[in-house]
Amino acid sequence: MPDDLVARYSRPVPRYTSYPTAPHFHAGVTNDIYRDWLAALPGETGLSLYVHVPFCDRLCWFCGCHTKQVLRYDPIAAYLPAVHKEIGTVSGLLDGRGRAVALHLGGGSPSMLAPDDLLALAARVRAMFAIDGGFEFSIEIDPNDMTPDRYDGFAAAGVTRISVGLQDFDPRVQAAINRLQTFEQTRDVVDGMRARGVRSANLDVLYGLPHQTVATVERTVEQALDMRPDRIALFGYAHVPWMKTHQRLIEEAALPSPQERLEQSVAAAERIVAAGYVPIGIDHFALPSDGLAQAAASGGLHRNFQGYTTDAAPALLGFGASSIGGLPQGHVQNVTATGDYMRRIAAGGLAVARGIAFSGDDRLRAFTIERLMCDFAVSFDELRARFGAMAEPVVAELRDYADNDGDELLVPTLAGVSVSVRGRPFVRAIAARFDAYLERGAARHSVAV
Ligand SMILES: C[S@@+](CC[C@H](N)C(=O)[O-])C[C@H]1O[C@@H](n2cnc3c(N)ncnc32)[C@H](O)[C@@H]1O
Ligand code: SF4
Repeated sequence: MPDDLVARYSRPVPRYTSYPTAPHFHAGVTNDIYRDWLAALPGETGLSLYVHVPFCDRLCWFCGCHTKQVLRYDPIAAYLPAVHKEIGTVSGLLDGRGRAVALHLGGGSPSMLAPDDLLALAARVRAMFAIDGGFEFSIEIDPNDMTPDRYDGFAAAGVTRISVGLQDFDPRVQAAINRLQTFEQTRDVVDGMRARGVRSANLDVLYGLPHQTVATVERTVEQALDMRPDRIALFGYAHVPWMKTHQRLIEEAALPSPQERLEQSVAAAERIVAAGYVPIGIDHFALPSDGLAQAAASGGLHRNFQGYTTDAAPALLGFGASSIGGLPQGHVQNVTATGDYMRRIAAGGLAVARGIAFSGDDRLRAFTIERLMCDFAVSFDELRARFGAMAEPVVAELRDYADNDGDELLVPTLAGVSVSVRGRPFVRAIAARFDAYLERGAARHSVAV
């Protein structure tokens, strides 16, 4: 990969897990607007439910998630009743409409939940929403949290998918990010949950961490592959110390350069693909038998706040502090601070702090960016079929970009445009060209590769 390409396309841009992106959410979207949006959802709408658990029993220095280290269980025990109440409020506003197709518990570390609390949360969801036959229940697990009772408790709660944070197995890297975790500890979680009926296991692996080299990343990837996970998420470390002040504990001089990051990601991807995995979008890999690979093959891949997903539900309902929801009308985000969240839920049952209502142009650009990020291609016929004459300005922008791209990252095709193989690592930067908000805000993002 030519160095100058990396230098020119690694400027900081969003990861496009939504469009418009979160920095453009504003306080004009309130509880009342969320109530109106929920009231307008059609009866049979598929609902994807997300519950945010913003607690961990350790603080990894690389962490970019919204979470807080807690040394006792009390703050979690105090938080959960608010989540139960919020679920009740939203269910009441839907008044029997909608079917829950998925429940995802993210964080932080939802694996910190005591088994009885997880059972109670799952029971609350099942009592408050109609549950679809193909309901999936996924949870993010920090292996450090897993006690014998959690294995059985999580299985009893009906968990069908797990996502396990692996990050890196190299001792020097682990010390530099304050994340100590053995191979055996990680493998026990994958094997233990599979033995209890979990159908799909994902492992999160990071590149771009301090002291990582191509050789260390390859070793970690080999160990990850030994567990034969159904999916691997290979994320580039996002270093944003101006937002996440604990990242200042990371030694910047030990961070790989953009060129080294790219080499690490390419080497890791080659190993994973050689082991029989299908590459999905910018940072996921799945066994051909996995639903994600099948969705990618049939054009059914989507991207939301949790990354790549098969979940096509028109409504994503977020519960808990800082959680983001996506409805056909726009995005909503709950207040970030846990104490504020609990106070607002106690007062009114909802805790929306910000959001954005979609304009017609937002929907068109959101679709364009999602297709670029998922399929590395956009079909003009599909844009026109969905958006009619409104599609023409974006069709013209796509055509103009592809016709004049001297770097040949976006190229014209018979159907529209596609991202070339050498353009794939830079797809975030390509997508950013169709982001009408990018130059407006003061938001700072992580590097694009
Ligand atoms: C909520 S955590 C996963 C669950 C659990 N807390 C754990 O760490 O095992 C979600 C994932 O986000 C990724 N992540 C966290 N901070 C990141 C950062 N600064 N840049 C890129 N990925 C990050 C990690 O791979 C992590 O596993
Ligand atoms: S990486 Fe996971 S365990 Fe570590 S602080 Fe972040 S959310 Fe918590």
